[in-house]
Amino acid sequence: MAIITKNIQGAKTILDDGGLVAIPTETVYGLAAKGTDPDALASIFKTKGRPSNNPLILHFSDFKTMEPYVKVITDEVRLLANTFWPGPLTLLLPKTAIVPDVVTAGLPRVAVRIPDHKLTLGLLKKLDYPLAAPSANPSGYISPTKPSHVNIQLGDKIPMILDGGNCEKGLESTILGWNDDGIPTIYRKGIITKGDLETVLNKEVCIYDSHSQTLEAPGMLSSHYAPNTRTLLSSTISEKIDENKHLKIGLISFKNAYEGDVAITKEIVLSSDGALDEVAYKLYAAMRELDGLGLDVLLIEKVPDTGIGEAINDRLTRSAITGTE
Ligand code: TXA
Ligand code: MG
Repeated sequence: MAIITKNIQGAKTILDDGGLVAIPTETVYGLAAKGTDPDALASIFKTKGRPSNNPLILHFSDFKTMEPYVKVITDEVRLLANTFWPGPLTLLLPKTAIVPDVVTAGLPRVAVRIPDHKLTLGLLKKLDYPLAAPSANPSGYISPTKPSHVNIQLGDKIPMILDGGNCEKGLESTILGWNDDGIPTIYRKGIITKGDLETVLNKEVCIYDSHSQTLEAPGMLSSHYAPNTRTLLSSTISEKIDENKHLKIGLISFKNAYEGDVAITKEIVLSSDGALDEVAYKLYAAMRELDGLGLDVLLIEKVPDTGIGEAINDRLTRSAITGTE
């Protein structure tokens, strides 16, 4: 198992040497390596079982340190960075030559962000390179929001997990780029919503159509964030319970408990107040907990499609075998 510690000097030693360290962020835990070292980067892909065509986000301590890694910094980039960094926004920007091709999977743009977590910012400040870090889960599985999540799945493959406690937000960052027409475009929905971005940019922001032919963001494809248990997403939970009544059912519901004639092995109500930030904070831990119970089916209730509910439903749709209805 990995050492779980707050020792950032120890983490620096491992990273300087080309090793991997799991790091906390405000969104989810990342599996970090030296972002300028192709061998260290290769071990991220190997450890996660991640396809090499799925690019990585570079994490920086501040804007100035990021500048050499991106070619063009527009007023809109500055505005967004000033407003949302450190925070759960990732920007896709044209890369310079110092970004190894393996980081971007050969794509011309690099994903960059400044995470909002004291311990990781403290670590990044000590380094003279950015940290490349995808979520610290085996490829395709639910992202980790606690050190124990990382340790259970990757603990035998990595030496250290920096202990930043539970991730404050619980859902991956919003990814924003500019399309060929210069229109700001969301490539992954997240905690920072379309409305938040439009307010700051004072213009319309579009949402990337992941069904289009070009594979611009491979991680946006389906079958991500998925438990091993057969997962059904629905807004009509009572019906789904009835349809599956002969099976061992686990249920993750939004704000109401479902009591009825059918026995449910385990139910978790995410937020009795109906608060979507609480749902985001608790969701992945709940999915992991129920996934460990050997259930036949995991039912998850859709949340309202407002605010960060859109990003929550986006993840749930990808994790479920049937989409929304
Ligand atoms: O909140 C987060 O973003 C977390 C924390 C650790 O920072 N990171 C994270 O990384 O979720 P990952 O690798 O699990 O998801 C990043 C997504 C992937 O779907 C990847 O395809 C996309 O970002 N991405 C990364 N670089 C890209 C690029 N150059 N062009 C297009 N998509 C990119
Ligand atoms: Mg991921």
